[in-house]
Amino acid sequence: MAEQNTPTLHGLAVSGASIDYAGRRVVDQVTLGVRPGSILGLVGESGSGKTSLARAITGQVPLATGTVRLDGVLLGARRSPAERRAVQLVQQDPFASLNPLLTVGQVLDELLRVGAARRGGRRTVPDARPAELLALVGLTPDALGRYPREFSGGQRQRVAIARALATDPRVLVADEPTSSLDASAQRTVLELLAGLGRRIGLAVLLITHDLAVVNAICDHVAVLRDGVLVEQAGVDRFFRHPEHPYSRTLLEAVLRLPERR
Ligand SMILES: Nc1ncnc2c1ncn2[C@@H]1O[C@H](COP(=O)(O)OP(=O)(O)OP(=O)(O)O)[C@@H](O)[C@H]1O
Ligand SMILES: [Mg+2]
Repeated sequence: MAEQNTPTLHGLAVSGASIDYAGRRVVDQVTLGVRPGSILGLVGESGSGKTSLARAITGQVPLATGTVRLDGVLLGARRSPAERRAVQLVQQDPFASLNPLLTVGQVLDELLRVGAARRGGRRTVPDARPAELLALVGLTPDALGRYPREFSGGQRQRVAIARALATDPRVLVADEPTSSLDASAQRTVLELLAGLGRRIGLAVLLITHDLAVVNAICDHVAVLRDGVLVEQAGVDRFFRHPEHPYSRTLLEAVLRLPERR
């Protein structure tokens, strides 16, 4: 097995990844990388394969070709508990990853306990207590005693982020985490995700329809079209000189972009 592991790139590396559903290829030979502390925006129209790629990265969908590596180590289809904890998914609908029968405190306690029992040392999230985890995402300790349904949409998405951080991941895949929120809650949650990601050295893959979001918080952007990655570039270069005609079409559809921070 050892020769398969090439510890060259830090962070997440997807190489030549293809995904088939019942013989139909929906993601074709995608190669992309996200370094610790950096945010890659994955854009592309509906049906282009973004969620499928996210699910392959988190190990929920098998690859037809290619590899997913974390710090050079191959992550296969069957992942160890440690590998599963290392790559976390924040979904569009925060209810999807929160047990409705458990309070937020119970959910976080359980994840932190399991993690602490099995972990072999390092931890990037500063403090492993539920209240501190909530503070990281801007929630007060009274949230610990509440159930997922007892929050606003934006608060619930923060809880989902805290839940994902509880396993001390190194990669966070966020699949349109704010599309159900209003503009101001969207901004708060995204800025939180971006700031936190940089602070604790997470590699973040942010799936979004919104190029203004990419412009505001991402370092790099990857453009998926019909399952094929047509362009991957630094955000500054992408917005100044998009190379692929499809990228130019996407950009032209955005009438006016807000100023980058
Ligand atoms: N479980 C599945 N079984 C069969 N086909 C699927 C499955 N999930 C997705 N697909 C198909 O794969 C293609 C890519 O879907 P995917 O959900 O990855 O797109 P997406 O880029 O996330 O779209 P959106 O922006 O609408 O979320 C689509 O044609 C979709 O119909
Ligand atoms: Mg999707």
